[in-house]
Amino acid sequence: MNCSFNFRAEKAFDLKYYQSLPNDTLVERIEAVRGKMGSRLLVLAHHYQKDSIIALSDLQGDSYKLCELAAKHEQCEAIVFSGVHFMAETADILANRPEQLQRRGGKRVPVVLPDLDAGCSLAEMANIEVLESCWNELGEVIDVSEITPITYVNSTAAIKSFCGARGGIVCTSANAAAVLDWAFAQRRRVLFLPDQHLGRNTALAMGIPVEEMALWDPRQDKLGGNDAESIGRARVILWHGHCSVHQLFRPADIEKARRADPQVKIIVHPECPREVVELADASGSTGMIIDAVTASPAGTHWAVGTELNLVNRLKNRFADKQVDFLSSEIGICPTMYRIDLAHLCWALENLAADTPVNVIRVDDDVARDALTALERMLEVR
Ligand code: 13P
Ligand code: SF4
Repeated sequence: MNCSFNFRAEKAFDLKYYQSLPNDTLVERIEAVRGKMGSRLLVLAHHYQKDSIIALSDLQGDSYKLCELAAKHEQCEAIVFSGVHFMAETADILANRPEQLQRRGGKRVPVVLPDLDAGCSLAEMANIEVLESCWNELGEVIDVSEITPITYVNSTAAIKSFCGARGGIVCTSANAAAVLDWAFAQRRRVLFLPDQHLGRNTALAMGIPVEEMALWDPRQDKLGGNDAESIGRARVILWHGHCSVHQLFRPADIEKARRADPQVKIIVHPECPREVVELADASGSTGMIIDAVTASPAGTHWAVGTELNLVNRLKNRFADKQVDFLSSEIGICPTMYRIDLAHLCWALENLAADTPVNVIRVDDDVARDALTALERMLEVR
């Protein structure tokens, strides 16, 4: 990579130094790098980022749109990803897939995550060793060639690779139903990981009864806490994972909002528990939530069950609508929140000086099959 444009920082590229700078200086310096690098740099941001970070990004999206953007963008020479680790991994796999590398004469597009501690606790609930033993155990009681493994995009590249190598696929909250349809057209069962709620909510909405689902808890000694009979009955085997932010929403929050205003419209993310999604008026990805609020007539009152930064942005954007956060508990995603002006400036100035930091690079062996699973997803929708 050579993104250098004779950029000079006043001080050594030490994160602590950036953390000592005032916000307006950081903003100015970030803008300076973006201005100088121009279209060679693509700064992507997930909708859960703080306003200050969104304002300094080129494009924003939900996980599905961000995958598409990373896959399609042809001009940029570097991507800085204001999001979490699995998103940067996905961008690396898609931006550096063999056909793109060939087009660029082998030159990689580095994908930078400004803070390496910006992980996703849900993605970390499934690791590859535990998944492999789950698959082996399943093979003792059912024929695993009957199972399509589906992984939510909130998962490590190794999990995506496992799925890709076994005829499986990735989904996001924007296309989970279409992906499940695709999976059932291939085989009669699915293993859905790592978010039990997205898997259960999507399957229920497709008419699959809960009796035909099994919950696989990897902490249990035998068959994820199931007996052979319930696994044999299951069309959907759900991994025991959840998002700690969306797990906070309760049916009582919806009842309270409706008591206060019977006209209120409740919209939630499908990572919320079943009882919450079933009581809500609508559920969907962050992109779908934004679209629904945007398209609603003036005067509409919304109570939104997803991350607080996004809800506050909607609230401030639509003065003619009332937008409330559904819960009374703090709903910030602590890992998305780690991306701040100091990390972004530090990452950008290092990139501009050709001393990139925090480059997310998925091993070629893992990337190959993970790409297969991602490409299947991009073809389904
Ligand atoms: P979206 O794909 O809906 O943006 O969601 C990502 C996520 O991490 C939700 O918690
Ligand atoms: Fe992960 Fe939940 Fe944060 Fe989304 S909100 S990035 S699922 S921890």
